[in-house]
Amino acid sequence: MHIDRCICFDRTFASVLQEARQKRLAIAQVELSLGCGGGCGLCRPYLRRCLRTGETAFTHMITDQEEPDEGSSEKSSKGST
Ligand code: FES
Repeated sequence: MHIDRCICFDRTFASVLQEARQKRLAIAQVELSLGCGGGCGLCRPYLRRCLRTGETAFTHMITDQEEPDEGSSEKSSKGST
């Protein structure tokens, strides 16, 4: 398993991380500004991990429980495990 992008918006986590750092975007702003995470939502925990740690590729599933959404109200968990 190789997970390195938001499938809905065809954006790699590496490109999202680069743009988020340049624009100093938090995760909620990434969704608003870049769209990533605003589709099916499956990439949200990966985006949170990516922004928190700088990792841009993953070989295992990351759930919302493993990488919880801090600071914003609970969003739809549509598509999560
Ligand atoms: S994979 Fe990112 S919103 Fe669907």
